[in-house]
Amino acid sequence: MSNSDKLSLFIDELKTKNDIVSIISRYVTLERKGRSFWGRCPFHGEKTPSFTVNDYDQFYHCFGCGAGGDVIKFVQEIESVDFMGAIHILADLAHMEVPSFSNSSDDNDIRRRKEQKDKLLSLMKDTAHHYVDNLKAPQAKAAIEYFSKRNITPAVARMFGLGYSKNQQDLVEFLKGKGYTIDEMVAAGVVKLKNDMPYDPLGGRVIYPIIDTSSNVIAFGGRTLDPKPAFAKYLNTAETVLFSKSKTLYALNLVKKAKQNSAKIDYLIVVEGYMDVISLHKAGFISAVASMGTALTTEQAKLLKRFSEKVYICYDGDAAGKKATLRGLDILRDNGLDVYVMSLPEGLDPDDVINKYGEQGYHKLIDRALPLIDFKLEFLQKMHDLSTSEGKTKFVNEALEVLNTLGEVEREVYVTKVSELSGIMKDFIRRQLDYPEEMAQTNVANASVKYSGGENEQKREKIKADTKLVQAEKFVLSAMLHSKPYAYSYFTNDISKLFTENRVEFYKTIKELSEKNTPSEMPNIFYKIYAENVSDDEEENKKEHLRESASEIINYIVKNQSDDNDLAYFKDCLAIMYTSYADREISRLSKLLETEIDKQKRTELLSEISRLMKNKKTKTLEI
Ligand code: UTP
Ligand code: MN
Repeated sequence: MSNSDKLSLFIDELKTKNDIVSIISRYVTLERKGRSFWGRCPFHGEKTPSFTVNDYDQFYHCFGCGAGGDVIKFVQEIESVDFMGAIHILADLAHMEVPSFSNSSDDNDIRRRKEQKDKLLSLMKDTAHHYVDNLKAPQAKAAIEYFSKRNITPAVARMFGLGYSKNQQDLVEFLKGKGYTIDEMVAAGVVKLKNDMPYDPLGGRVIYPIIDTSSNVIAFGGRTLDPKPAFAKYLNTAETVLFSKSKTLYALNLVKKAKQNSAKIDYLIVVEGYMDVISLHKAGFISAVASMGTALTTEQAKLLKRFSEKVYICYDGDAAGKKATLRGLDILRDNGLDVYVMSLPEGLDPDDVINKYGEQGYHKLIDRALPLIDFKLEFLQKMHDLSTSEGKTKFVNEALEVLNTLGEVEREVYVTKVSELSGIMKDFIRRQLDYPEEMAQTNVANASVKYSGGENEQKREKIKADTKLVQAEKFVLSAMLHSKPYAYSYFTNDISKLFTENRVEFYKTIKELSEKNTPSEMPNIFYKIYAENVSDDEEENKKEHLRESASEIINYIVKNQSDDNDLAYFKDCLAIMYTSYADREISRLSKLLETEIDKQKRTELLSEISRLMKNKKTKTLEI
């Protein structure tokens, strides 16, 4: 069993033996109200309790200051200790012994590996300097000429640390002189062995150092000076402990530097080649990075996301539509990036575009970029001959695959587009789409969850019940309870009709309370719901239902304590709620229509139905 497995088993046991309610009770007076415990938050001064502890999920959350987490986090915060410090405190309380997770041989191992890595990094830095220094040597004449032919000024060359490798032996001798062993050179990837003889695989090439966002040189790319190379125009040094191509983006270090110098990064541009990045930077597009000619990966998506949510993909014409490329773009989208695809003139790469049409020309292409889905659909359109029925069928089938990857609201938008491109009726296209169960059921609530079967089954049931719609309603309510200004306006603007029956009472109650309270008092509303005394049975039932809804929202908030309470997401949620409301309303009115005989009333019903359908289609939220 590995150390991390051991640790996680230990923590599981530690948490089972340290019930969060009893731990927090040592510091805070807690009182049970409904399903949760309440008290005054120990992390900020307050008069009315807005601090809640949930024993079912073993979480705490403060509606006043936003603090929250599990029992370990609580001890960390209240005792100002780090994670392991909290573990030791909790272990003492539970009379458990903290096992030693690292024995001395592990420690040595870790230290040795760190030292080895540092050694390789310094070898890489020395190598990079050497390649740069080589540009001053008489042998570098061809390299200098090549740079100038490609409009690379000495200043640009310095910015990217460009260099030159004189031949296959020079680097080996240089590094030997610096005291590095052949093994180290090979481990760093800059030297290879052929019949036990070490050589520099990039010998004779111009050099592009690859630098990570911590400013470490981790690899090198080399381009041949041969205008018609028999093999590999570009070569990279090997994958090593320092370098993995799929986790790296060329020039991202420069984006980071720009950001640290307070440049505003509104979007990133991803291109294929080193030279494309260099040209773009020269033209002022400082957020260009290169994928180095391969399909994008999850790791790269995460790297990109640290700098911007919006990404322009700018690949050479032939590469953009390839299956592997598209998969890479899906990966970006799946990781929450806004992906736009640029189309370049036939046969040109970004570097060519800059040289031919300049910065202005490139800007125009950025303006014309298509969102990923539009790009895919237009690409499919180009692939098939839509004037034949066979082509049309293939187009629609492939377009359906694209639509099936989308969320409900987006689908509706693109159904229109596919219909326009193919001339096939929207309703037909809609009927061909897969509607997962969760989209079809709109009225499932947590309340209907049956806790039967094993724990796994319970979990599955619960996940199934948490439909998109339910999530949307919960998000909207939680934004309101957190006094988000944009959400607040929906108290004055009554949206009760958008809620399903499971949450409408809760919405109405907080709306009512919001009229008597200031926004900053809203977090206390939960307390009011729990604390209010009730008189008769009917009232009690209603209160019980409200408390259940309140618990549900608290759970949601506790588990979704991210900062993504943003307006765009809020609006998406409202759109989901509106679409589902419109569906419910359309089916209700259609039923009425079946039995209505009064002509005037029939006309009214029909026009109401068509109004709702139109709103749905045009995404008009009529509230
Ligand atoms: P391209 O062939 O599009 O190169 O490969 P380019 O940037 O236009 O090169 P120039 O303008 O002729 O100098 C794009 C990227 O794919 C990788 C490199 O990272 C290159 O920058 N590649 C390409 C290789 O790794 N090996 C190759 O043989 C070719
Ligand atoms: Mn090129």
